[in-house]
Amino acid sequence: MRTYVVTGGAGFIGSNYIHYMFNKYNDEIRIINVDKLTYAGNLENLKDVEKRENYTFVKADVCDSEAIGKIFEENDVDRVVHFAAESHVDRSIKNPDVFVKTNVLGTLTMLNAAKAAWENPDGTFKEGKKFLHVSTDEVYGSLSNPEDFFYETTPYDPHSPYSASKASSDFLVKAYMDTYKFPANITNCSNNYGPYQFPEKLIPLTINNALHGKDLPIYGDGKNIRDWLYVEDHCKGIDLVQEKGRLFETYNIGGHNERENIRIVHIIIDTLKEELDDSDPRKALVSDKLIKYVTDRKGHDRRYAIAPDKIRKEVGWYPETKFEDGIRKTIRWYFDHQEWMDHVTSGNYQKYYEDMYSNR
Ligand code: NAD
Ligand code: TYD
Repeated sequence: MRTYVVTGGAGFIGSNYIHYMFNKYNDEIRIINVDKLTYAGNLENLKDVEKRENYTFVKADVCDSEAIGKIFEENDVDRVVHFAAESHVDRSIKNPDVFVKTNVLGTLTMLNAAKAAWENPDGTFKEGKKFLHVSTDEVYGSLSNPEDFFYETTPYDPHSPYSASKASSDFLVKAYMDTYKFPANITNCSNNYGPYQFPEKLIPLTINNALHGKDLPIYGDGKNIRDWLYVEDHCKGIDLVQEKGRLFETYNIGGHNERENIRIVHIIIDTLKEELDDSDPRKALVSDKLIKYVTDRKGHDRRYAIAPDKIRKEVGWYPETKFEDGIRKTIRWYFDHQEWMDHVTSGNYQKYYEDMYSNR
């Protein structure tokens, strides 16, 4: 039975990945979820897997080399899938330090622990061991020419403290591959959306605010473009890269779902109106009139867009879910999980919202 260490498994993509993997492999794999449970980590996301005998949760910081080393000593780990990170650009602009700590030093700690466990005395690595570093397309910077796309060969040009910290972590993984022949892959994915996404990001924030009749904040002119990927497609891509990708390679994941932010918000409003029953009092609250243009994000990247040619050719992955279908599924999920939203927006979330949006 293959053993996976998944870091950040209580977050948005990590928890979707754990669900995806148990659905696909059921009892053929074991997953150890290592998460510090920051504001973004929520064990409620994993309620339906927590009783499985082949699932273990370990509360630990990826920067804590002792705790991470112990996990590798006590388990014969075959795969590491490293999601744990601080992930929100706006927070990185306000408080960059924790981004460098978790994203850069945390990745170094994970690399060192896996290297110590997997390296043979002659410097080669044990058969079948693999580390997958989950990264972002934001490391490539911003596209200005509409005909350009991000390829794996696009030079790194990060602008925000978040993307700079992710770029640094990618370079560490590349350095371990080049220097030690450490068995790893990097995936650089575009913006994800779907179940369990924390409502600090554009899509769940818009859904939640619209249902409460609250302002829908649009930064700048609303014409910044992101390339949106349904989270399950991302999880599938990560699994396929591990199964079929060439070691030491980087794969971009995403493509074909570029939308301007203002368009995203209009699609959400229209879909909410279609999906809500006439008898539902929230229907009267959802309206274009809630849209509010606010001061732009500092250093706001204009456009991200992935060319998924390499991953399609080498591992057969392509983005399966069209945005209009994925957003409908996502909205239905939020309807069915109102309690989840109520829990994550209680407590500290109110303070975060005040700090980020009042007087903006
Ligand atoms: P998230 O913020 O929802 O979750 C991050 C998880 O990491 C949380 O469970 C949190 O508790 C945990 N964590 C944070 N600091 C930790 C630490 N020091 N030690 C252990 N655990 C810690 O993030 P996400 O959106 O699920 O993103 C996951 C990964 O995917 C990140 O590496 C991110 O850079 C990358 N990524 C995200 C997107 C996206 O659109 N969300 C796109 C491409 C790549
Ligand atoms: P976000 O979901 O934070 O992801 P990222 O910054 O990683 O791309 O933001 C997506 C886009 O939406 C980005 O261009 C910023 C914009 N945005 C708003 O206009 N209003 C908001 O309230 C938020 C959170 C984001």
